Amino acid sequence: MIHEHNNYSLLPHNTFGIDVKASSFLEYDTVAELRKLLEDGRITEPWLHIGSGSNLLFLQDFKGTVLHSCINSIELLEETAETVSLRVGAGVIWDDFVSYCVENQWYGAENLSLIPGEVGASAVQNIGAYGVEVKDLIQSVETVDVTTATERLFLLDDCHYSYRHSIFKEPEMQKYIVTFVCFQLNKKEGFTLNYGSISEELKVRCSDLTLENVRQVIIDVRNSKLPDPKVVGNAGSFFMNPVVKRSHYKTLKEKYSDIPCYDVDSELVKIPAAWMIDRCGWKGYSIGQVGIHDKQALVLINKGGAKGVEVAELAQEIKQSVFNKFQIEIFPEVKFV
Ligand code: EPU
Repeated sequence: MIHEHNNYSLLPHNTFGIDVKASSFLEYDTVAELRKLLEDGRITEPWLHIGSGSNLLFLQDFKGTVLHSCINSIELLEETAETVSLRVGAGVIWDDFVSYCVENQWYGAENLSLIPGEVGASAVQNIGAYGVEVKDLIQSVETVDVTTATERLFLLDDCHYSYRHSIFKEPEMQKYIVTFVCFQLNKKEGFTLNYGSISEELKVRCSDLTLENVRQVIIDVRNSKLPDPKVVGNAGSFFMNPVVKRSHYKTLKEKYSDIPCYDVDSELVKIPAAWMIDRCGWKGYSIGQVGIHDKQALVLINKGGAKGVEVAELAQEIKQSVFNKFQIEIFPEVKFV
């Protein structure tokens, strides 16, 4: 069924907890309903499609139509001795999908436990954590083209995935609304445990290496570092980790011997933005209703009642101070609306 609300508060639809209104808010349950909305001219510019709003910062009221998918099915497409293929609705809560995979003993998604958001957005954003990105599981992405109300399938290679990026983030591709994502998971045991403290945590805490235990450790690690958006407004990592020339990293390393990095290729490295922000002294900082989480410097928080512009102003100050100290420009992962 289609649901429409006018002059609608987006407070429950963004994890930053910013209280702005949308002129119109539309929800649909099926691809047929979405196409009908388009054919009837009920979606006009400006429009914005959201998932759980876990990667958005609203700077003002949205004078247009906000769309939200309630396509909530999980369908088993194919099963072999080694793999399963699943077709999952864009509106399924991402972590419900991870939990479903773990319950069924399907391997691949467990490191992405507890990432906020919905399945549709996961494929746009190429969400990632603890050495796994969602592109590692994706087979194809089904979309509807808003300009023609027709469907278009993107195979994995068509999606141009890279770190927190896909073709769907490119300006001319914003006309595609994700409706379903097809994932392939493994029935044979296989874990990715080489990231940070995950394998040590597992050894210390759990006697067996099982999907349930890996999921629980990831959940506990995330909970210990990242604030629960139901309690403190936030959008996870606010900035992306910048990719820089290895030569620049080496120069910094002479001055800051403990500066961490992850290899990208022979010429490029990724430097944790959290480390640089922390080094600039921001961790735990607070001004008015906004601040920086005291356990993870990459997370900006709304302490209650903050305006989006206040968060954006703080982000700008952080960006400037990181540039001044390290000559590296950092960019938000969060989308400003
Ligand atoms: N660090 C600090 N100070 C801090 C936090 C971290 O110095 O306050 C240092 C750590 O010691 C470590 C490095 O920074 O050497 C990296 O920290 P961490 O492993 O916590 O990862 P991250 O780079 O901060 C990324 C993702 C997270 C994801 C984790 C785990 C980005 C922008 N963020 O964070 O994703 O959960 O790795 O894989 O890539 C998100 O996108 O919203 C998100 C939470």
